Parts: sequence; C-alpha cells; structure tokens
Amino acid sequence: MSLLLYRPRRLRRTESLRSMVQENHLTVNDLIYPIFVMEGKNIKQEIPSMPNCYRYSLDLFLKEVQEIYDLGINSIALFPLIEQEKKDNKGKESYNPEGLVQRTVRAIKAEIPQITVITDIALDPYSPYGHDGIVKDGEILNDETVEVLVKMALSHAEAGADIVAPSDMMDGRIGAIRQALDKEGWINTGILAYSAKYASAYYGPFRDALESAPQFGDKKTYQMDYANGKEAIKEVALDIKEGADMVMIKPALAYLDIIRRVRDYTNLPVVAYNVSGEYAMIKAGSQRGWIDEDKVVLETLTSMKRAGADLILTYFAKQVAQQLSQN
Ligand code: PBG
Repeated sequence: MSLLLYRPRRLRRTESLRSMVQENHLTVNDLIYPIFVMEGKNIKQEIPSMPNCYRYSLDLFLKEVQEIYDLGINSIALFPLIEQEKKDNKGKESYNPEGLVQRTVRAIKAEIPQITVITDIALDPYSPYGHDGIVKDGEILNDETVEVLVKMALSHAEAGADIVAPSDMMDGRIGAIRQALDKEGWINTGILAYSAKYASAYYGPFRDALESAPQFGDKKTYQMDYANGKEAIKEVALDIKEGADMVMIKPALAYLDIIRRVRDYTNLPVVAYNVSGEYAMIKAGSQRGWIDEDKVVLETLTSMKRAGADLILTYFAKQVAQQLSQN
C-alpha cells in the first residue's frame, strides 16, 4: 500500500480538472498587434525575415486593422516605413502633421475609432543613420533628441493617437512628453514607456522591415546591457516618476526574469514586447517542420503572462486571435 499523502497528478488527471486549476490564461484582450504602414496604394509586401507579416499601404492597412478588430484585438502599435528622401538627422518628418503616421492615425480614427492606437516615438525610422536620436560626431544627443520626441508625441496626439510609446531610451523623455501633452490639453493621451529596452540582436528582422538598421556602431549607449537586471528597475522607477501609464520590457523571451521583477515592483500594467527576432525563430523552426508552430506560440506567449505581463505586443496577435476563437 502506498503512503503517499500528496499526489499532484490527481489534479492533472482530466482536461476538466486541469482547466480548473490553470493559473494563467492567454486571451485576445492581452494582445497588441504591431503593424507596418508605407506610402503608396494597393501594396502588401511580405517582410522576408518575418513570414506572414506585411508592410501595407494605407488603403490595405485599414482593411487589415478592420480584420483584426473583428477578431477581437483591441489595439495596434503602428510602425512606419519612411521614404529615404524624407529622412534627416533631426527627424523633421517625424512631426509633420501630414506625415505618414499622422495621416494613418487620422484614417484609423475616422474608420475604426474604437480600436486603441499606439504610436512609436523614436527617430530611427526618420534618421538616415538609423539611430533613435540626433547624431553629432558619432554620438547620440540626449536633450536635443528629447525636444524632437516631444514635438512628435504632440503631433501624434493631435492626430488622435490614444497612447504614445517612446521606444528611444533617451533620459527624461517620459517627463518631458507628459508635461508637454498636459500643457497642450492632451491630458487623456497615455504613455506606454519602453522602460527596459535592451540593446538586442533580436531586433534584426524589424530593422529589415523599416530599413532602419544603424548605419554606424550599435545602440549600446542608450539601450540597456543585456547582462543587467537591477538597472531595469532603475529605468522603470524613473519612468513611473515621470508619468508613464504603462511600462514595457523588450525583448520578452530572453527577459522573462525582468518581466517578473518589474511585475513585483509596480502595480502599473506591464507590457512584454515579443520582438521580431523571437517571431522569426519560431516561424523558421515551423517552416522546417521542426516544431509545432501553434503549440509553441501559445506556450511562448503564456510564459510571458506567467512571468507577469498583463499585455503582449506580438506579431503573432492575429493568428493567436484566430486560434483562440476556434477553441
Ligand atoms: C526603434 C524600435 C525597434 C523596435 C521597435 N522600435 C528597433 C530598435 O530599437 O532598433 C524593434 C521591434 C522588433 O524587433 O520587433 N525605436
């Protein structure tokens, strides 16, 4: 006779028991869908290193947004492909009221006003150097860049963005943007701070998508060293003090410990960015028939929830929404 008092397997015996004790749930409400917009008409270009991810001209972009909204996805993060001739070191195009992002936001708000629109604040798509700030003598200037980021955030708010998301890692930008938004009356425009953004090799496919790879050096003087954890809390603490509404950790999969530490530190919503390289790896493994994509995707995204993320920015959002609605 066995004298085992505890048999954890009792609660794993049937599907029904397992679902009763399931601790974390991935739902469509957790998903933010990043999508790429470009100039032109009737264009849908697949990004080579991101299978099933496209750059859309505005007309087709709007159709895609409608589709994902119909699938129950509440929000999108918008990234623009800027034409080479519009790029300059000071990123002037970034706050052009008739710029691609501004026009796109207005068009979404005219057609699908219920969806939450998150815009990216950083200079890299607008800079010939592919850096997130203004370059001088090989350095990335902080305070001068923040001035441009403020103008960019204001122009996005004016266009109707619900949330602006500074992804540049300049010091003091959250406070500067919050103050400027409030001063101009945009008290309801939120800020999602990319607080702990690491200098990561996982961003490669995204830079292909936007043709925004750094033209010299790397981003290590502003993005964080992947060897550091405590520093993430320092960044998160500053962004919260400066007025962030939500904080983000990026990338996600190699940084689950950081997601957990930030979760334990703050009661603000915590967002994980499942970045392009994480997406590409799963797609590549799946295309080779080496992994079961649907299962690996659900397992991966659920691990981010388990680590403590409330929301996940992921290129898988659309297919996961489809998958969840079939279950
Ligand atoms: C740039 C930005 C990057 C990403 C989002 N915003 C790239 C970078 O910092 O070089 C990466 C997203 C991804 O890899 O999916 N401000």
